[in-house]
This record gives sequence, C-alpha cells and structure tokens, in this order.
Amino acid sequence: MTQLLRDAKAFITGGGISVGRACVELFLEHGAQVAFLDIRADRVAAVRQATGAHGYVADLADRDAVLAAVDDAAEKMGGLTVLVNVASVTQGGRVVDTNEDQLDRMFAVNVKGYYWSTQAAIPHMLAAGKGSLVQFGSVAATHPAWGESYGIVKASQVALAYQCAMEYAPTIRSNAVLCGWIRDSPASRLPQTIPELIDPVLADHPMHRAATAMELAGTCLFLASDLSGAVNGATIVADGGQTRTQGNLNALMQKIGPLFAKEPDLLRQNAQNLAAVTPEELMGE
Ligand SMILES: NC(=O)c1ccc[n+]([C@@H]2O[C@H](COP(=O)([O-])OP(=O)(O)OC[C@H]3O[C@@H](n4cnc5c(N)ncnc54)[C@H](O)[C@@H]3O)[C@@H](O)[C@H]2O)c1
Repeated sequence: MTQLLRDAKAFITGGGISVGRACVELFLEHGAQVAFLDIRADRVAAVRQATGAHGYVADLADRDAVLAAVDDAAEKMGGLTVLVNVASVTQGGRVVDTNEDQLDRMFAVNVKGYYWSTQAAIPHMLAAGKGSLVQFGSVAATHPAWGESYGIVKASQVALAYQCAMEYAPTIRSNAVLCGWIRDSPASRLPQTIPELIDPVLADHPMHRAATAMELAGTCLFLASDLSGAVNGATIVADGGQTRTQGNLNALMQKIGPLFAKEPDLLRQNAQNLAAVTPEELMGE
C-alpha cells in the first residue's frame, strides 16, 4: 500500500475512540509517527497498547497541559507536521435550556481547546517547513439540528481553520471537515438502538447509513497528506449528503430532546452506558 504519510509526524486530539482513534490507526498504517491526547485515561491506555502511538491524558481545555503534550510529542517524534483536532463535548440542548456552565464547558473545549492545540502545533510546523492543520467538526456548524446548541462552537472551528489558512500558508495548509452522523461513535449510539427513531432518519439520508469512523479518518488522511497539496482554507463536508435532506433528523431531535427532559433517569442511564463504552466495543465491529 502507498504510504501517504511517510515522514509525517502527527498529533491527534480525542484519539481515544471513534474518529480520533481511527485517525491514529490509519495514520500509523500510512507511515506517520503518531501521538494523541484524550481526557479518558482508560481510552488512552487502550489505544496506546493497541497501536504503540504516544498517548497523553489531558483535558483539551487545559492550555498548559495541551502545550506540554504537543511539545513533548514533537520532541519524541523529532518534530510535528500534522494536527487533527477531533475531541469535542456536547452539552445543553435548545438555546433556552442551555445553562452558563454547559456553554462555558463547550467553549472551553471546542473553541479554546482547538485554539490551544493549534497554537501549540504551529511553531513546530513552521520549524519543519511544512504542516497540515485539520479541524474536525460537524455539519451542526452550518445545519443546526433541533436542540444542538453546540453548532455555535463547531462554527468557530471552521473560522479557526480559515484564519490559519490565511496566516500560515504557504508553509502550513489549514482546512476543516464537517461530518454528519457517525455510526460507531458514543454520542450516536443510543438513537441507533431505537428503530422507530433512527429508521426515518436513515430513510431520509441519501446514503441510508451513517459514516464509519474509519471513512472519516480517510478524509482527514487526505487533508493531512500531500494529495491535498492544493487545498487550503477549505471545508470538506463528509456527511454522505445528510445536509441535503435534513428533515427527519430534526424530527428525531425534537423527539429525543423532550423525552430526555421529561425522564432524567433515562438520560442518566444513557450517560452511564456511554461512559462504559470501550474502544474495542465501538471499533471492533
Ligand atoms: N457523533 C456524531 O454523530 C457526530 C456528528 C457530527 C460531528 N461529530 C464530531 O465528530 C467528532 C468525534 O465525535 P464522536 O461523537 O465520535 O466522539 P466524542 O465527541 O464522544 O469524543 C471523542 C473523544 O474525545 C475525547 N474528549 C472529550 N472531551 C475531551 C477533552 N476535554 N479533552 C480531551 N479529550 C476529550 C473523548 O474522551 C473521546 O475519546 C467531534 O468533533 C464531534 O463534534 C460527531
């Protein structure tokens, strides 16, 4: 197989599961040296053991910890040429239901956290004489789903990609990915277990299925590699066409939101289920 990332040194945030972990695996397969960060120590340990990548346990919102992890990774790998930001948190619901703590946390991770890792990576890329920044986001940035206030912070990730595309080219290319529904992700797991909720959404979806984490890692691989040498300041919408027909997704969100609001126990139970998911469970299919 052609090694698209031979000589690349990549850092991935949210590498513990789903798209982030798939990036770790795919980038290694393509010849890169890889380091990753995740807030969950159990996931970091599992991915480190399975792949041999350098793993760091840190909260993306913690600027000092992020800078320390990126610098240490660059030292271990002999530089840094690729950053993919995937780690993300979703809190709150409709605009009127989202409190200040929830909004603060979403800004701390999704806005400031993406900023900190980008800030940490750029000097290493400039020193290397090349680099690719990939801000992984959501179609919620442009096509809000009912009760998903996090579109507000996902939109800022696109702005960060564009800002860097202007400030650091031609040495560094900077792009964003907006993805739709992910099949093997903790966040989308519950709705997929309720056929009466998910079936109309998938029937409405041009591909009739959600994307796999590995397919989305493939989009990140393209942007990280020289194959995308002419792509800078762009957004790739990797949603299988979901945003062309988003009607039933909004209907789904309108059903789920009030269901959880009325039944806090169900929400708690779901949160526990999600917390118990292991990378093997999700990625092993
Ligand atoms: N799940 C979906 O269907 C969906 C849809 C559209 C976009 N997205 C986007 O795809 C990306 C991956 O989402 P996902 O739902 O697959 O995974 P996720 O958002 O559940 O988590 C990815 C990883 O990030 C880690 N993480 C969370 N907060 C962190 C923090 N503060 N510091 C460090 N690590 C942290 C988690 O432990 C996890 O291992 C996110 O950027 C998300 O916004 C997801």
